[in-house]
Amino acid sequence: MNVASNLSESVSEASVDVTAKAGTKVGAKTGIAFLGCGYVADFYQQTYANHKDSLTLHGIWDHDAARLEKFAAFYKLEHYASFEEMLADPEVEIIVNLTNPHAHYATSKRILEAGKHVYSEKPLAMEIDQARELVALAEEKGLQIVSAPSSVLGPAAQRLWQAVRERELGTPRLVYAEIDDGMIHKMGYAGWLSSSGTPWPAKDEFYTGCTLEHAGYMLTWLVAMFGPVTEVLSMASLCIPDKGGDTPEDYTTADFSCALLRFEAGVTARLTNSIIAPHDHRLRIFCDGGELCAHEVWNFHTHVDAYPLPQNKIQRGMEKYLHMRSKRKLAVAKNPETKFAEGGHPMDFVRGVADMAAALRAGRPARLGGAFSLHITEVTLAIQYPEIYGTPYVPQSRPAPIEPV
Ligand SMILES: NC(=O)c1ccc[n+]([C@@H]2O[C@H](COP(=O)([O-])OP(=O)(O)OC[C@H]3O[C@@H](n4cnc5c(N)ncnc54)[C@H](O)[C@@H]3O)[C@@H](O)[C@H]2O)c1
Repeated sequence: MNVASNLSESVSEASVDVTAKAGTKVGAKTGIAFLGCGYVADFYQQTYANHKDSLTLHGIWDHDAARLEKFAAFYKLEHYASFEEMLADPEVEIIVNLTNPHAHYATSKRILEAGKHVYSEKPLAMEIDQARELVALAEEKGLQIVSAPSSVLGPAAQRLWQAVRERELGTPRLVYAEIDDGMIHKMGYAGWLSSSGTPWPAKDEFYTGCTLEHAGYMLTWLVAMFGPVTEVLSMASLCIPDKGGDTPEDYTTADFSCALLRFEAGVTARLTNSIIAPHDHRLRIFCDGGELCAHEVWNFHTHVDAYPLPQNKIQRGMEKYLHMRSKRKLAVAKNPETKFAEGGHPMDFVRGVADMAAALRAGRPARLGGAFSLHITEVTLAIQYPEIYGTPYVPQSRPAPIEPV
């Protein structure tokens, strides 16, 4: 194996650690490797810097030789000679699957079969049976599998969740959650390059669909706060079939979906995804005493505000006619040291991997692992494909409550 020369110090640190019991290294950093060196891999490589005290990156692999060489050269990393070599590396405990969504099932399955834990970019798989199989396989082998996104572990999500838990504006009743991204196909994305020079994979994004790509950013927060989704009513459609030169062949994937979700805690939500309506990533929770709002769920440090209900006629008039409301800023515990990826969204992509590593070392399930990730995948698939899953749809997966950070 060609272990990165600039990682050799961390490698030797890891190798002197004591192994306590069945694969648990005490005092060691957790060994990870990246599978896939495309656009998002740069975000992971750059935010890995936030977690070097607990993780050691041992190597990378991509089946596209040019991508692999370019990424390795840019970050001065050496790389494995094959996927098999990565799977056989005894220093690696978690493989971070950064391949395209359609490759997730087959690659994650091979990783689990090789006895490694998986942290997968979303979705876990493109079909619910495949996702169930992966989670069952992991369980059978005593391994863990976790799916991104992990933004619910970030300080803004945690602050919003605290406000909900502590009923800062009373009982939550209704949620409006939007992931509208504007007309991506008219945004000149041809110029979007990752730091190491990989173009944004437009065709694959259009083909996979904005719901499978993005709904998890809202669902993870909502399931953490309100428990499992008990019913999904969805409408999804392809509103703009011609997306220009990168329109996939036989393109039928929805570029808009709107779902009504019922949560176990009794809250009802409307979740919209589109690559049509102008940018809006707000999560608004309407409570008996007013509105809680996280303004941009793709920002770990986004503003979280509380808008108490207007108390009198003048305040109601100001809200109705002048769109002015009284507001209380909720303090988000921003860590000024946190590094975000260059040109990427202000998200700490490796946060979820670090949480998984901490869980492995503590001998507990990762917060977002197994049933939680399966549930997010199941609900997302039901929203994107109502014609396949049926609507209303009753999810079968039921994750246990997760602990706040
Ligand atoms: N593009 C973004 O802004 C973004 C943001 C967050 C998450 N994601 C997620 O990250 C994942 C990857 O997206 P991307 O934008 O990096 O795509 P990409 O096409 O730029 O990169 C994917 C890479 O995986 C490699 N790959 C595919 N199958 C493989 C296999 N079997 N073995 C080895 N390598 C393989 C490809 O060669 C490619 O280099 C997706 O799940 C996507 O949803 C993307």
